[in-house]
Amino acid sequence: MSLAFNRHRRLRQSTAMRSMVRENHLHVEDFVYPLFVAEGENIRKEISSMPNVFQLSLDHLLEEMEEVVSLGIKSVLLFGIPLEKDECGHGAFHDHGIVQEATRLIKEHYPELVIIADTCLCEYTSHGHCGIVENGKVLNDPSLKLLVDTAVSQAKAGADIIAPSNMMDGFVTAIRAGLDEAGFEDTPIMSYAVKYSSAFYGPFRDAAESTPQFGDRKTYQMDPANRLEAFREAESDVAEGADFLIVKPGMPYLDIVRDVKNHFTLPVVIYNVSGEYSMVKAAAQNGWIDEKSVVMEMLVGMKRAGADIIITYHAKDAAKWLKEN
Ligand code: PBG
Repeated sequence: MSLAFNRHRRLRQSTAMRSMVRENHLHVEDFVYPLFVAEGENIRKEISSMPNVFQLSLDHLLEEMEEVVSLGIKSVLLFGIPLEKDECGHGAFHDHGIVQEATRLIKEHYPELVIIADTCLCEYTSHGHCGIVENGKVLNDPSLKLLVDTAVSQAKAGADIIAPSNMMDGFVTAIRAGLDEAGFEDTPIMSYAVKYSSAFYGPFRDAAESTPQFGDRKTYQMDPANRLEAFREAESDVAEGADFLIVKPGMPYLDIVRDVKNHFTLPVVIYNVSGEYSMVKAAAQNGWIDEKSVVMEMLVGMKRAGADIIITYHAKDAAKWLKEN
């Protein structure tokens, strides 16, 4: 008897066979590990909503870096937590700001590591917004100057890549011009081109102490219901000279990752954000899911969706698991 159908299971019959036909792979080189560096001393404070993620002062940073580097991770993304905040977020563009100091320290010990500096004001402003505020409004153009100053001071400190996450219009143009003028024409911009206004950033705001003190970020971050707007945002950033395009958050926006991958030729970065991490951790701690399998499935799903680079708090665990296999 011969029935007409395809035998898809032929290629699934053994581990070796499955690995021969596997289309997507995770590599430790895909990962960027975010770090929260805090001004002050002897700080190693776990974020309650992000198990195993810590705010670290400089005196604890090198222990962490040793682990990160020994796992083969090639890049970190730095966020700063200053001791003092003010209206303009001076700590962001101070030459001795916490991200600038952390960058110098890491570069001194690990010159090969790619340091990405998050360029935003919200961790440094008293109101918690990503730009200058006047009469309850987040002003676009006046904020650009401060973001340029931040990017230039980060590049001066040795940052390899500038990653502006503030979602002001024109930030790539402004930062590119500022970097070029300061002699950093070789410093790439990894633009948070497509950044949605997402409830998944909640735990990050605990970690970075950057919750807006009034209102929300909906006048500058994107509406989660929109797809075409992502093309408009990405087109602008490409035209303005971005070198990488970030889509953020990750898991609920894999369709957008695929769109961006299909329509643009720049490397696509996915940001697997704090809330995504916390949900997995909470379920794993309850014994409801198998953490390793779930994390690796999510991460390879991001590659399959078109991401070239994955910013993830799971990076250290995933690097360990890749080594085991
Ligand atoms: C700063 C910034 C945020 C994140 C990265 N950069 C928070 C926000 O926009 O409120 C979120 C990252 C995460 O949730 O892991 N603008």
